[in-house]
Parts: sequence; structure tokens; C-alpha cells
Amino acid sequence: MGAPGVGKGTQADLLNRRLRACHLSTGDVFRGAGEGCELSPAMKEAVGYMRRGELVPDSTVWEMVRERKACLHCGGGFILDGFPRTIGQAESLKKFMDGEGLALSAVVNYELPFAEIVARLSGRRTCEKCKAVYHVSERPPQIEGKCDRCDGKLLVREDDRPESIRVRLDAYERCTAPLIEFYQNSGLLVSVEAKGSPDEIFETTFTQLEDRRVRQVAQMAWVSLEDHC
Ligand code: AP5
Repeated sequence: MGAPGVGKGTQADLLNRRLRACHLSTGDVFRGAGEGCELSPAMKEAVGYMRRGELVPDSTVWEMVRERKACLHCGGGFILDGFPRTIGQAESLKKFMDGEGLALSAVVNYELPFAEIVARLSGRRTCEKCKAVYHVSERPPQIEGKCDRCDGKLLVREDDRPESIRVRLDAYERCTAPLIEFYQNSGLLVSVEAKGSPDEIFETTFTQLEDRRVRQVAQMAWVSLEDHC
């Protein structure tokens, strides 16, 4: 979790490389749907919301996640990036996961001051082919305008225009920020300050997740010991 542009996708990519988990980014799915091929009316509508910077309706998001439920059963685990984003989505996810005998291990929330978020969004460039993410000053490609991985052209995302950025930040404050308390109350929240380089933030995230896992294992061992006594 975190505001638009805080670095969720960058961190999910790094975590994914380390954990080899399934990475499901709802934003990537909606952007992919906007490129070519026949779209259902609901998906067409979703792409319109995304371009304006507004949240896609919960029913469409949930339908799309359910179609990808195999991801939640991946042997290496899964990383949800940009989902859930409303209390309604979080409740649907919980109900669904309970039914499948699954549970979230943690919810990572990235925090950064507003001004730095806007600077990250305004400088972002994305490869039109492989979707790799760069930043003009913080994470520049080796050759300006070209992707290091596939040589593709680097473009400004449609919803990174100033008018869409404002709408996205407003949607975050109204609909997504309340999830911080929701997950705090569930005991799942891990807050990470998103300052520093992507690698530094990744190491902090990974250490915090490892510490949490060690504490959980110790707690389970303690409970099972008590049950036997
Ligand atoms: P989505 O793609 O999820 O967009 P977002 O949440 O706005 O997040 P971003 O992808 O813009 O940013 P990020 O936090 O991933 O940052 P990044 O790593 O790229 O969703 C897009 C749209 O789809 C939504 O607006 C909505 O319409 C729709 N949607 C998606 N999911 C939905 C849902 N569940 N419900 C309803 N609607 C939904 O980094 C940003 C920039 O900063 C990059 O240039 C990067 O190189 C740079 N950077 C990263 N880390 C650092 C660092 N440590 N230092 C300096 N620069 C850095």
C-alpha cells in the first residue's frame, strides 16, 4: 500500500525477484487492457476511470482479481500491488481468502511526504514494450529515452499528467488511506519510510518482513508448547 508514485511497483518488483512470488498489480492489468484487443464494456469503462486518475469501481476490480485467483495459490506466495484500495475491496478479499483457506502474512505501507511523491510521479518514464519503470533523475536509463532491458521507447504514463495526479492523490486520501487503520487493527500493518534509494528501501522492507516472520514462528511454537503442557 501507499500513495500513487510512492514506489509500490518498484518495491514489488524487487521483492518478487527475491521471493519468486506471483506479482499481481491491478494497475498493470488495467493498463494492459487499454492496449489493443477487444474489451468488455466493464473493462472499457475501467480504462476510462484509470486515464482520468479515478478509482475503477469495486465490482470491476473484484471481477478481475477473481479471474486471477490462481495467483493466490502460487507455491512461492503472492504480492498484491495496488489492491485492495478501498475498505469494500479489503472486505471482499478477506471473505474470499477465508473461503480458500488462505491468509495475508503482512500489509506493507510505504510512507513519503506529498512533495516527494509528486516529484517521483512527474519524473517517471515507463517502457512501452516491457513496462520497466525508470525515473529521469533518480533511476535514469543508460541511454536517454531507451529501455535498458529491451531497447523499447520510454514514455510518460497517461495518468502522470498534472491534472490526473491531483485526482489520484485525492482518491488515495478519500478511499485508500482509511485502509491503514483497517490493517493496523488486523495486526497486519508493516510501515516503511519510503526515503532513500529503491535498494535501501527494499532492504528495510525485507528485514521488517523477516523480523515479523520470526516473531510469528516463535509465537506459534510458544502456543503449541502451551497446548502440550
Ligand atoms: P497503479 O498502477 O496501481 O498506480 P498507483 O497506485 O497510482 O501507483 P503508481 O504505479 O503510479 O506508483 P507506484 O507507487 O507503483 O510507484 P513506482 O514504483 O512506479 O494504478 C493505476 C490506476 O489503475 C489507478 O489510478 C486506478 O484508476 C486503477 N486501479 C488500479 N488498482 C485499482 C484498485 N484496486 N481499485 C480501483 N482502481 C484501481 O515509482 C514511481 C516513480 O518513482 C518511478 O519513476 C520510479 O522509478 C521512482 N522511484 C521509485 N522508488 C524510488 C526511490 N526510492 N527514490 C527515487 N525514485 C524512486
